[in-house]
Amino acid sequence: MAFGWIDQQAEARRRAGLVRTLRPRPADSPLLDLASNDYLGLARHPEVTEGAAAAARTWGGGATGSRLVTGTTGLHTELERALADFCGFEAALVFSSGYAANLAAVTALGPHGSLIVSDAGNHASLIDGCRLARGERQVVGHADPEAVRKALAAHEGPAIAVSDTVFSVDGDKAPLAEVAAACREHGAGLVVDDAHGLGVLGDGGRGAPYEAGLAGAEDVVVTATLSKSLGSQGGVVLGPARVIDHLVNAARTFIFDTGLAPAAAGAALAALRLLEREPGRAARAREVAAELHGRLTAAGLEAVRPDAAVVSVRAPSPEQAVRWAADCRTAGLAVGCFRPPSVPDGISRLRLTARADLSGAEIERAVRVIGETRP
Ligand SMILES: Cc1ncc(COP(=O)(O)O)c(C=O)c1O
Repeated sequence: MAFGWIDQQAEARRRAGLVRTLRPRPADSPLLDLASNDYLGLARHPEVTEGAAAAARTWGGGATGSRLVTGTTGLHTELERALADFCGFEAALVFSSGYAANLAAVTALGPHGSLIVSDAGNHASLIDGCRLARGERQVVGHADPEAVRKALAAHEGPAIAVSDTVFSVDGDKAPLAEVAAACREHGAGLVVDDAHGLGVLGDGGRGAPYEAGLAGAEDVVVTATLSKSLGSQGGVVLGPARVIDHLVNAARTFIFDTGLAPAAAGAALAALRLLEREPGRAARAREVAAELHGRLTAAGLEAVRPDAAVVSVRAPSPEQAVRWAADCRTAGLAVGCFRPPSVPDGISRLRLTARADLSGAEIERAVRVIGETRP
């Protein structure tokens, strides 16, 4: 029977406690939200939603085609200039998602004959970029600049190292300066995904590469999503103008994908302008993360010390992680739940987002619920 094998896979998933289901989400959920990636609490900010609405009124509900076919709006140009200036890079190119931005950067910068050195903890979209790229891929140990150095030393020809700046599961930071130094020793490029750093790390939220002194470097390319700190949707690649020009000509997820929706561009631009005016939001997200971590460990929970705004709490097993997250939800708290295959090391976790707009009382309530529902 066609697709019969799907039933066997479903059964195996059920036995392993790894079934994923979709549930409805009301517009006015009463849950305390520590599950979303809305780090700065901007997704529903009136300036951001109005930015989306105004852009849709002016430019329409969609981008109507690839920008190479239907053209680039003034809004896209303004957003790209604003993102590049804010993060300290020469140029920027926006995509319909952060996933598409990562596929673009890795495939276009990892051609046939090149080496792509990839951190074992990288996000799925970077991993898929490596799989799609024509270059040879070598996965190295997590946050290990020496392993990057060794891999690069053994290769002749073009090479890049690819890493998240803040890893999405445990919220730990990559040793960016050390990895960049290893790349420089061997004339390799560095491609980093700042999805969890933009808006949180660096002066006023300018990101982890900015914080590490790598902004504007001619051998560094940064990708990011507009869907986390900027409360919108879409992705961006930042880097030297010649790299961005190359992507326009070579990145299939730019060439063959409909441009970023005007509403998403308008929302992201409004959020960025807000962050420029209110840089304290970035520091507040880091403060909330530190407070959450301190209170969780004081309550005897095994939480990883956060480098940005992701706080990860270890769970004993996938089944217990799922039940723990469900019990939190019943008690009015939404938390993320990571389990295999999202976590390749097999350790299941609750994942909490330290939103800049959480109050002290909300942090206290979240920690109390997590403690009371622990398996
Ligand atoms: C590290 C990282 N990179 C890329 C993405 C993908 O971005 P987007 O959701 O905009 O496709 C995500 C998650 O959304 C992420 O956590």
